[in-house]
Amino acid sequence: MKILVTGGAGFIGSAVIRHLIQNTQDSVINVDKLTYAGNLESLVCVADSARYAFEQVDICHRAELNRVFATYQPDAVMHLAAESHVDRSITGPADFIQTNIVGTYTLLEAAREYWNTLEGSRKAAFRFHHISTDEVYGDLPHPDEMTGNLPLFTENTPYSPSSPYSACKASSDHLVRAWLRTYGFPTMVTNCSNNYGPYHFPEKLIPLVILNALEGKPLPVYGKGDQIRDWLYVEDHARALYKVVTEGKVGETYNIGGHNEKQNIDVVKTICVILDELRPKETQYAEQITFVTDRPGHDRRYAIDASKISRELNWQPQETFETGLRKTVEWYLANQDWCNNVQDGSYQRERLGAL
Ligand SMILES: NC(=O)c1ccc[n+]([C@@H]2O[C@H](COP(=O)([O-])OP(=O)(O)OC[C@H]3O[C@@H](n4cnc5c(N)ncnc54)[C@H](O)[C@@H]3O)[C@@H](O)[C@H]2O)c1
Repeated sequence: MKILVTGGAGFIGSAVIRHLIQNTQDSVINVDKLTYAGNLESLVCVADSARYAFEQVDICHRAELNRVFATYQPDAVMHLAAESHVDRSITGPADFIQTNIVGTYTLLEAAREYWNTLEGSRKAAFRFHHISTDEVYGDLPHPDEMTGNLPLFTENTPYSPSSPYSACKASSDHLVRAWLRTYGFPTMVTNCSNNYGPYHFPEKLIPLVILNALEGKPLPVYGKGDQIRDWLYVEDHARALYKVVTEGKVGETYNIGGHNEKQNIDVVKTICVILDELRPKETQYAEQITFVTDRPGHDRRYAIDASKISRELNWQPQETFETGLRKTVEWYLANQDWCNNVQDGSYQRERLGAL
């Protein structure tokens, strides 16, 4: 297959491309604007492959997308390009509306026009896979609020997004499903929980905590740190996405999660314990933890029911949170150059998204 991946220089997109080049025979066209979050350094290990091509293109630019589709004639699209950081969406929602909604619309139209030129089995086999988040479902009851079996997000959970980020991701999911229903355009959607792992831009909780810890800086925890996220190792997500684009059914939604519900404070403390072991110093890293004002509109709990993708596509995560987190900390310790290079711009891990 020839797969057009949007956002392939980002955290998850680069994991998908490394997976495609290293573990399949497929070809990849990486379409990425290279915002602050896109870094070609995350792809150096595959960039020389004859099966890899890169196009620096904004998904809002229709003429450029038309050129890319006409040139490469892909068999599938995996759409990951997005503005992805909730805190940034609070400070400045405009880029989120533009890329996540207008960009998805523009990509859908360019892909549909190209699909209409295909014939026979190539047209029938074409897939447009939209990669989305569990944040579109809003938040779930927290153990503080109820006892007994706590509910999980299923594929049928109604949408109730809380932040500008999740609201525009929800909007893009609706566009993708409408393009199937109205035009018969063969789409599928996945909604995944929080990812973590190597090559994660250090504005997100786990890499930010690792790097701040190593530099002796405060480890900021929002509110009481009791928010619950369901963590998935990024390479497990990449494998799940490949299963969906190659074996998933058109029109279906698949929730993807790691069965790893953790409170943020426990994630931070676990990173500190791993660092105490791998990079010991006179004081314990946990002494650097500081509690800061909570995020406005902060969702309290996310948790995914991933039984559908497990049952129908035989996917299960390979990493536990403990093995994945240790691998992640080890990767950041061994890849300080990558961390320094991606932070060359104006961002210095300062607090974002406080009103
Ligand atoms: N990170 C998570 O935990 C998580 C969880 C579930 C779903 N998702 C979804 O997965 C996708 C990828 O997330 P990520 O964490 O890798 O994001 P990221 O911010 O690390 O990467 C986004 C990539 O998209 C590119 N991009 C941004 N705007 C663009 C535009 N207009 N045109 C072309 N490229 C553009 C950036 O340059 C970057 O390479 C997103 O759609 C996100 O909503 C993320």
